[in-house]
Amino acid sequence: MSEASKRSVALVTGAAQGIGLGIARVLAAASYRVVLADVDRQLVEESAGVLAAEGRTAVGEHLDVTRAEDWARAVERTRDRFGDLDVLVNCAGISPRGSIESTDEALWDRTLAINLKGAWLGIKAALPQLLARRGTIINIGSVRATRPIPGLFSYVVSKAGLWGLTQQVAVECLNDGVTCNMVAPGWVDTPGERLIQARHGRPDFPAGLRNLTTPDEIGAACVYLASEPSRKISGVILYLDSGLHVADDAGMVHLPGRDRNPYEQRL
Ligand SMILES: NC(=O)c1ccc[n+]([C@@H]2O[C@H](COP(=O)([O-])OP(=O)(O)OC[C@H]3O[C@@H](n4cnc5c(N)ncnc54)[C@H](O)[C@@H]3O)[C@@H](O)[C@H]2O)c1
Repeated sequence: MSEASKRSVALVTGAAQGIGLGIARVLAAASYRVVLADVDRQLVEESAGVLAAEGRTAVGEHLDVTRAEDWARAVERTRDRFGDLDVLVNCAGISPRGSIESTDEALWDRTLAINLKGAWLGIKAALPQLLARRGTIINIGSVRATRPIPGLFSYVVSKAGLWGLTQQVAVECLNDGVTCNMVAPGWVDTPGERLIQARHGRPDFPAGLRNLTTPDEIGAACVYLASEPSRKISGVILYLDSGLHVADDAGMVHLPGRDRNPYEQRL
């Protein structure tokens, strides 16, 4: 039996653009039938259409990850279209800047709802199918889950929570053959990240930056974590940051007051 027929159906959230789209593209190229799910209804249809035009099996699905009823519909429609899910990638997320004091309750609630609760709701909805297929769950975290930095308050808390969720799910599913891991990218050039940079008056990424991770590299990591040879890997963080998380301040993110990346010339 080929690898593709063993593990063949994937749903990726936040797949209209950026990292999620990259993951969907790489999974589709590896012969997965992929559901691209996103709250941006129009863009996700367009993105799925691009993959389909390239000969891939890909469809768009409107999904707000914070809504349990959306999740119920999305996983049911996935089964109707392609069969039970083998791979769930929780990638939808927001990366707001803010400190303890400048973060208000609305921002805290929104960040935690999308980045953390959304992943739980997805796992809960998809678990019966994943159990039937002995499938895999991949949560897209961040280096910041374990390496906090000033100015990313609700984001860091949400990604640290996602790491806790990842471990808890791995333990709860340990005897059922379902694996759960977190992929933690460093800085990635995406539409969302460019928007945030622009809001801080930076029209582009800093010149000379050498440590960006690409969406395709993250997609390749997901293909590996979904593959048979990685069956024994569960409850881990796979960092994709050139090793910056073990450097003293993993100084990749240019925030107000942080004009210089001390590592950019060394990698
Ligand atoms: N870009 C980076 O440097 C970077 C680094 C580490 C981790 N990440 C993580 O990767 C993920 C994707 O980041 P990105 O840079 O590609 O972002 P992006 O803003 O370019 O894309 C995010 C996508 O998520 C979708 N989305 C937002 N809220 C949603 C919701 N409630 N339901 C469904 N979809 C929703 C958006 O519509 C968008 O298509 C996030 O979880 C982010 O935290 C990003």
